[in-house]
Amino acid sequence: MDTAKTQLSEMENRKIQWKYLAEHHCYLWERAPYCSNPEVPAEQCMNIYVPEHFLTENGELTEQIDENGFNAKTVPVIFENGLAGYHEAEPFDLEDPRSAAKEFLKNGFVYVSCGCRGRSSENIDKKRCGKSPISLVDLKAGIRFLKHLAGVIPGDMTRIVSVGISAGGAMSTLLGATGNSKDYEEELRRAGAVMEESDDVFAAQCYCPIIDLDHADLAYEWMFRGETHYKGMPFVGFGEGDLTPYAAALSERMADAYPDYFNSLGLTDPISGEAITIGKGLEGSGYKYLMKKLEQSAAKYFKKLNSGEALSGPEIRVLDHLETAEESSGKKSVSVTDYIAGNYELLMKNRQSGESKWVAGEDKSGWLIWDGEKAGITGMKEMQKTYHTRLKLCPAFDDLNLIQAENQEFGTPQCDKMHFDPYLAPIMETLQKEFPKENAKYLEGYREVNKDRELEKRRAQINPMNYIGKAENSSAPHFRIRVGSKDSDTSLMITLTLALKLMQTGTTDVDYEIVWDEPHGRADYPGEVTAWVKKIAAAD
Ligand code: DHB
Repeated sequence: MDTAKTQLSEMENRKIQWKYLAEHHCYLWERAPYCSNPEVPAEQCMNIYVPEHFLTENGELTEQIDENGFNAKTVPVIFENGLAGYHEAEPFDLEDPRSAAKEFLKNGFVYVSCGCRGRSSENIDKKRCGKSPISLVDLKAGIRFLKHLAGVIPGDMTRIVSVGISAGGAMSTLLGATGNSKDYEEELRRAGAVMEESDDVFAAQCYCPIIDLDHADLAYEWMFRGETHYKGMPFVGFGEGDLTPYAAALSERMADAYPDYFNSLGLTDPISGEAITIGKGLEGSGYKYLMKKLEQSAAKYFKKLNSGEALSGPEIRVLDHLETAEESSGKKSVSVTDYIAGNYELLMKNRQSGESKWVAGEDKSGWLIWDGEKAGITGMKEMQKTYHTRLKLCPAFDDLNLIQAENQEFGTPQCDKMHFDPYLAPIMETLQKEFPKENAKYLEGYREVNKDRELEKRRAQINPMNYIGKAENSSAPHFRIRVGSKDSDTSLMITLTLALKLMQTGTTDVDYEIVWDEPHGRADYPGEVTAWVKKIAAAD
């Protein structure tokens, strides 16, 4: 450690305040400020939880080796962000249901919940200060702060594993893809981040990441072409309904435009090396690759269902649960045959209220088959009738009336909500004859996007696809991507292109799966993420 760093660390050291949480067998440094010039101190801080055996009562590192073989200097650090809906987030406490702190701590890791500014953050002067790419900048400042404390607090700061869900999953992907990029330096400096440290991470766990906002609208229409009924997002401000004729016409042309982008990525099959492309409809090797991933996902679920192992997705029970003696003694489980026929119930959680209730299973026999070893899905279209249904309006992200999270994410201090999708104005122009009234209302707003160079830069800064494989930044060596088979918050092609592009670098270890029956959220099987952290930390 050089002298400058030692002095700074000693200064930090005096600020460290460990609180012992006897019930959870850990120490907590609560709301540690991670940058010296915070605009919203309650958001620009982190909670650091450390398993008790790594610290003495005086806050010194112990020599103890834990059951995983880690000591205070080698134990990996989980770095979870709480950005949801691109909203600002204060750090989570242990009891927060949105946090996985208890699970990670139980497995012996240091766990950090890092707060960050978000789309509606305001500073003390009531000025907006959390627009793109600020959430990412804050999280990078958090990483730099932790690295700065290497050797002073427990945790191997060369083994930081970023974790996030949805918009947070986007940030986790970005932390993995944009390590040490110069593109954020100005903002990092302004926030008072520790500039002499790096901000690359060891691994990124990306749950249902809402990324590639440049192409997410097109990808959504490609996936849901012809599906004009949407389920709605009451918490965003719209319920169930049908696309207007204008939106439906837009959808068709947006779907037509997506393959040009997809095919320009030059993706290849990681095993055969063959080109992965798509056609205008649900066709081509890219579509087949997606269907194969879905079939593998169902097969994994069925094998676990048969063996009685813990499942992904909501809790499941047999239909006659109240009557059967076996069920009450915990023996009877749902068979794959009953599952496919819809003879079961799922404990569904309301996304907004968090309340759960049992709902009847769906008959999937029209599109899902199982031969005891492999699952088969007849097609995406069949799946979309009842299982994987359209959720959003069209455009799904850059909303016509600026109601989506992303419209506010791309606003400015002066203008809270903005359009941002550069593809839409030219597409709308092709609808001028058919829909002059609608174009008169919407087109000009979207035209502004293509004139705004500052917006273009901020859009590029939160699109990880721009950074993958670029030599000028450091990529995390490990990525784990999980998305639910029922997730329709974004197109399933978004995670597929992310995974394939990462694999193509040849230098990144990518673990990518679709997780059966999971909706948008922390889509995973119990215990898998902690096993992954142990595996990658041990191998490296
Ligand atoms: C989130 C969900 C969305 O559908 C979206 O467009 C952006 C963010 C979220 O849950 O974080």
